[in-house]
Amino acid sequence: MKVIFSGIQPSGTLTLGNYLGALQQFTELQNDHDCYFCIVDEHAITVPQDRLKLRDNIRSLAALYLASGIDPKKATLFIQSEVSAHAQLGWMMQSISYIGELERMTQFKDKAEGKSAVSSALFTYPALMAADILLYGTDIVPVGDDQKQHLELTRNLAERFNNRYNDIFTMPEVRIPKVGARIMSLQEPTKKMSKSDENEKGFVSMLDTPKKIEKKIKSAVTDSEGIVKYDKENKPGISNLLTIYSSCTGESIEDLEKKYEGKGYGDFKQDVADAVVNLLQPLQERYNELINSPKLDDILDDGADKASFKANKMLKKANKAMGLGRVRK
Ligand code: AMP
Ligand code: TRP
Repeated sequence: MKVIFSGIQPSGTLTLGNYLGALQQFTELQNDHDCYFCIVDEHAITVPQDRLKLRDNIRSLAALYLASGIDPKKATLFIQSEVSAHAQLGWMMQSISYIGELERMTQFKDKAEGKSAVSSALFTYPALMAADILLYGTDIVPVGDDQKQHLELTRNLAERFNNRYNDIFTMPEVRIPKVGARIMSLQEPTKKMSKSDENEKGFVSMLDTPKKIEKKIKSAVTDSEGIVKYDKENKPGISNLLTIYSSCTGESIEDLEKKYEGKGYGDFKQDVADAVVNLLQPLQERYNELINSPKLDDILDDGADKASFKANKMLKKANKAMGLGRVRK
């Protein structure tokens, strides 16, 4: 069975973009792959975090993974900091990363822009991400479009390590969903929908009430043409709503275009809102059952054990390949 690894940062409540770009594919993949899903809290501390909020966010993200349909019998769900091999191999990956290649990462450039105090961990973050992936012999990494560059770097680092030391790492492939890879902001549809958006109307949170969801979708920025048609260049707002609708219901964008021929944006927006509510409501009910339950802790304990077992084996191989520590004679 092919191995899948992916991670999400516990840095605020996930958005509809996270669900459609990441979680939705994870639940499909767990049926016929050996899946590792990680709450990457060590990535989250590359920018300042409030400790109590971070704790809450970690737990909330675990509950969201499970509420979205991750089944602990099929997939391993765990917290990055509870498996020490991540930080350890992360350091080793830093030692083979070049400053020049890290400087080219657009996520770093975006996050560092205009800031006077940027942590060195924000800069070396892709080396830790490479370690996350390589520890499990990962074949496939399902992520949204924005993580492509980090995946390319991971492959470069894996190849460099394999050539320089020993051929121990599997070359991971990136997997981007066809529809929903990049859900855009509802207010500025040329920008990615993000949980860190200052304008709350720009994103739908996975835990927003139905009323709030409806309000946000109805106030989404569109255009004055009045035609429901996919045209990313000239009609980014409507195209984004079509993508959301299609990803929520599974109906193709062409079918949706036909369905709304001759109809106005009012009807269309109402139906998009209903589709999002129908998708998120059952998920929210499961979330509420899980968030304060000890079952959640049992699942995470078990996940950390399983992940450590596998990761430690690879860490040992990597230590040996690089010459770290001792080999017992
Ligand atoms: P992050 O919230 O940046 O930790 O991202 C977690 C996962 O969700 C990654 O796989 C991202 O690529 C994906 N993701 C985040 N925002 C979006 C978006 N607006 N559209 C699609 N995928 C997204
Ligand atoms: N960097 C990813 C993001 O910001 C999160 C992440 C960390 C990740 N490690 C990973 C994703 C390993 C996939 C595989 O979204």
